[in-house]
Amino acid sequence: MLKNKLNTRLFVTFSLATLLILNCFSATWDVPADQKEKKSYIKFDKQTSSQGEVLYNANCASCHGNPGKNNILKSLNPIPPDLSGKSSQALSDGDLQYILNTGRGLMPNFKNVISAEDQWKVISYLRGFNPNYVQELSKFDPNKSKLVKLTAKFDSKANILTVMALADEKSGKIPIIKAEIAVFVKRYFGNMQIEKTVLTDNFGKAQVVFPKDLPGNKTGDLEVLVKLFDENYGEVQTTNKLAIGVPTDKPALNEKRAIWNVLAKAPIWTLSLYLLGVFAFILLLLYLLNNLRKLYNSKTI
Ligand code: HEC
Repeated sequence: MLKNKLNTRLFVTFSLATLLILNCFSATWDVPADQKEKKSYIKFDKQTSSQGEVLYNANCASCHGNPGKNNILKSLNPIPPDLSGKSSQALSDGDLQYILNTGRGLMPNFKNVISAEDQWKVISYLRGFNPNYVQELSKFDPNKSKLVKLTAKFDSKANILTVMALADEKSGKIPIIKAEIAVFVKRYFGNMQIEKTVLTDNFGKAQVVFPKDLPGNKTGDLEVLVKLFDENYGEVQTTNKLAIGVPTDKPALNEKRAIWNVLAKAPIWTLSLYLLGVFAFILLLLYLLNNLRKLYNSKTI
């Protein structure tokens, strides 16, 4: 009997310890490496901090309380941390933005609620509570993407698409080096990527080999989407109509299917059956209306 009690106590202790350890594990955030490294492209200053404070009070304070004020909503599990605290401040700027965009459990995600720029402002406000924080700015400037000129030329003999990525800087046109280029063909549902993502060379040039048998429209045209990702110039895309595909004359999905179509008339039996159905339904309606009228006239109701 005594042994049994001991065993139970051991079991309970062990289970509780396991739960506690698991809970500790769940408290760390699994942030992908490239996200962790992300930095803000706006400089944190008094203005961004006070704009961030307004956003924080509207979106976060109800759960996290005001930093350092110990007015956290403690009824939640896990309890939302005080974001001015040591453990939260140990997170990188990229971590914080990732957490805002993904959320977890009771922590909502703000991906479509707070714009990227405003998210940095909230983070700017939170960093104000950390005297040891020194901001590292991202090199990326969102205005720079406007300078990018992307051109695509197709060599129909070799079936190669050549993409040129140049930036129209004040100092003249400079090639964008080592930018990622991804090429897609537009389809009914979403886009299909051609080949793998390639990097531009020292001249801002990248080449993608096309398969020879892609179906195009009647004249063989295909809509080709070229996307560029670069850490300085951001994300830029252009669409080009290129005569790359094999001419394919496919009728639209609804062209030969309509009942009253002039191209291919529906068989007589389909039409008659359909009309018979409509007619029967009208008769039924009339019959019901007539019955209602009779009931009404009979003064039984
Ligand atoms: C509905 C309540 C709620 C709201 C609103 C909320 N959070 Fe949270 N937040 C939580 C909870 C709960 C956690 C703990 C989640 C966990 O660890 O699984 C959390 C965790 C976090 C963390 C991780 C901190 C750490 O040290 O691990 C950050 C950062 C954070 N929230 C930022 C914000 C910001 C910024 C806002 C406003 C834009 C916000 N939260 C709004 C409930 C909330």
